[in-house]
Order: sequence, then structure tokens, then C-alpha cells
Amino acid sequence: MIKYSGISEIILNVNGMDREVVVYPHETLLNVLRTQLNLSGTKAGCENGDCGACTVLIDGEPMKSCICLAVEMVGKKITTIEGLKETVIQKAFVDFAGFQCGFCTAGFLLNAYALLQKHPDADDDLKKSWLDANLCRCTGYEGIKLSLDAAQSQLAK
Ligand code: FES
Ligand code: FES
Repeated sequence: MIKYSGISEIILNVNGMDREVVVYPHETLLNVLRTQLNLSGTKAGCENGDCGACTVLIDGEPMKSCICLAVEMVGKKITTIEGLKETVIQKAFVDFAGFQCGFCTAGFLLNAYALLQKHPDADDDLKKSWLDANLCRCTGYEGIKLSLDAAQSQLAK
């Protein structure tokens, strides 16, 4: 394992592209995505792992980027909301009003995308427990559920 003790130049693979960034060892992935790569779709909410607004995919697994160190992401594939353009789940959130203010939406979308990739036949219990990792302060859970159900049905065709 490489030890990073000072400021370092690293390469992060984000949405299929290698991006060079300069980071301190303590810098979070969330901060690097937003401030260096201008990927502002990843939102900073609680910044302590509770709300899920900062969720991204790391090698296909949903992770909260506010509690991931950027230096630990070298060699992994990072997907942000900008990488989910034109996906079935994105369209479903638009068509079925899966958002209100939109602050939580990127996190929900990425987590829902991962769920449908891993468990295309997920039942309501699994969907509920899976999305427990994300909070919506607007309480738009019904629209989110409808969007997820619609995407699941469409992908099953
Ligand atoms: S901002 Fe990362 S979990 Fe809330
Ligand atoms: S839509 Fe506003 S926080 Fe979820």
C-alpha cells in the first residue's frame, strides 16, 4: 500500500476518464470531486456519513464520498451522477417526480442504480432497506419509490 504523507499528484478514474488531481492525504473524495473536478452534482450535506447526499459508486458499490479519502480511490472506478446521464433510472426520476428541491437526488439515483444492477428483482423490503442509506429532507419518498419501481419495471422488459 502506498503511503501519502504530503501533497500528492494522483490520478482518479471518474466517469470513465482519468483525471489528475493534487490532494492532501486527509482530503475527501467529495471535496476533490466538487472543487477540483467541478462535478458539483455530488452534494455536500451532513459530511459525516449520515445523509447519503454525497453518494457515488466506487467499482460499482455505493459509497458516501464525504467519508472516503481521495488518495484511497487510486486505481478504482468512480461514477458520479454526471456519469448516469440518459439512464433508465434518471429518466424515471424525471417522469415520476422523484425529486422536489433536488438536493438528495443524486445520492438516491446512484444508490437506486446500484440496487437495480445488483438486485434487478428486489422486493419492496429490500428496496426500502437499501435506500435507508439516503435521507430526503423534503420527504419526497413516495415519488422516489414510484421512480424506482418504474425503472425496475422498464429494465425487466
Ligand atoms: S454528505 Fe456524505 S453522507 Fe451526508
Ligand atoms: S428532494 Fe429535497 S431533500 Fe430530497
